[in-house]
Amino acid sequence: MAVKNKNVFDFSPALESAGHIQLKDQYELFINGKWTKPKSGKYFKTINPSNEKVIAQVAEASKTDVDAAVSAAEKAFNGWSSLSGKERGKYLFRLARLIQEKARELSVIETLDGGKPIRESRDIDIPLAAAHFFYHAGWADKLEYAFPNRKTEPLGVAGQIIPWNFPLLMAAWKLAPALACGNTVVLKPAETTPLTALKLAEIIEEAEFPPGVVNIVTGAGATGAAIVNHPKVNKIAFTGSTEVGKIIQRATANTDKKLTLELGGKAANIIFEDAAINQAVEGIINGIYFNQGHVCCAGSRLFVQESVHDEVIQKLKARIENLVVGDPMDKNTDIGAINSKSQLETINKYLKIGKEEGLEMFQSSCSVPSKGFWCKPTIFTGAAQSSRIVQDEIFGPVLAVQTFRTIGEVIQKANNTPYGLSAGVWTDKGSKIFNLTQQLRAGVIWANTFNKFDPTSPFGGYKESGFGREGGVHGLESYLKFND
Ligand code: NAI
Ligand code: MG
Repeated sequence: MAVKNKNVFDFSPALESAGHIQLKDQYELFINGKWTKPKSGKYFKTINPSNEKVIAQVAEASKTDVDAAVSAAEKAFNGWSSLSGKERGKYLFRLARLIQEKARELSVIETLDGGKPIRESRDIDIPLAAAHFFYHAGWADKLEYAFPNRKTEPLGVAGQIIPWNFPLLMAAWKLAPALACGNTVVLKPAETTPLTALKLAEIIEEAEFPPGVVNIVTGAGATGAAIVNHPKVNKIAFTGSTEVGKIIQRATANTDKKLTLELGGKAANIIFEDAAINQAVEGIINGIYFNQGHVCCAGSRLFVQESVHDEVIQKLKARIENLVVGDPMDKNTDIGAINSKSQLETINKYLKIGKEEGLEMFQSSCSVPSKGFWCKPTIFTGAAQSSRIVQDEIFGPVLAVQTFRTIGEVIQKANNTPYGLSAGVWTDKGSKIFNLTQQLRAGVIWANTFNKFDPTSPFGGYKESGFGREGGVHGLESYLKFND
């Protein structure tokens, strides 16, 4: 794949070993295996949120471009779906291996474009994206064992719309099961983080996928809506805000499109007095400050048993003071840049609301760079159930702390939310873990850990967190129809 050598970044010594990363100045749409200019001639900028510098111009797909992408996917469907599972698996294995080979480059691009710490891109996002393709490559020729005695068929063209918090990983979560099951795809990355999906399109080219099997179109909400409303799209998979999820649900209600939604969350992270407190404190930090808190399953509501509240809060504050906030490209950074100006405005709005509600706010005393979008790690203590800091998804490094005395009380409080995506329980007692995992209304419940992901394990929510599962055998179901 020839990459123009115009935009070569020379990185800090911390990334010497990553070499020079090559990015184009301008990216087109990936339709039918070709790089295609947008019909409207419109482009938008993607910036580095840690310094506000423009990285590249990216094509904005209109309805006409989306239509071309859907037609290409529709045309490619017969060929792709009639390949043997083993053949489809080979393509996916090849893609997974190429992601591994290019892991350093992908990590750097992910961090540049989205602001997350390089350590997270390198150790979590990119390896998990490869793992997702490996896992689903393995399923491609074993679907009859996944669903014994059932007749399955792929759905057709899958329209997939992904967010900006885990750009490449969400592309992998969407593409891998769709392709393994024999569907073709039109995928749209988020407008602030399109670059790793476009890099993935280059890798798909290198892996010599048949044209039209994967089409990647860039743009904002209007482009997403054009995919959702296209009559020839048979399935929509969306990860993003509850607000847009509701729009999509309404738009598909009168159609035969199959739909899965992965929306917001407001997870309870519950610390019992018998927990290993130092480990729990690390779990709280990882639960809320991982990826700047831009995580749908973030442990954003902390419940601490009253008897250990003071100890936990004191240790938590000391730990927050030790977090390194700043240059996402530095491998020692714990908390990088907020993904966009508008997300920073949302977070700042909530900091103001928390103060107005009379909660006690604690922030790290660290300094932050003058350019770019930053939020210091924050905790609010003394929060009531009715507080908006407790009720609303903030999607930033902001933790709301509440206390409890009994198990009954904490279950009631933890479930008192419109969301139901994840939860965490910290205790020494297995019996407590079993009791809580059955009573907490959340799709994923972690015990004595938090924010751990694996392709074998289904992920998804209850209530306003959405429906359908991604990962595991359950994730395959969303890309198949059952003819029996
Ligand atoms: P969003 O829901 O607008 O964006 C997610 C994706 O949907 C993007 O690719 C966007 O271009 C696309 N989109 C926007 N409007 C659309 C429409 N009408 N039809 C089809 N696609 C559309 O999320 P946004 O505005 O970036 O973030 C707002 C809030 O949403 C965050 O503060 C956070 O609370 C939540 N959020 C949750 C995520 C999750 O992982 N569950 C991910 C991103 C945001
Ligand atoms: Mg960007």
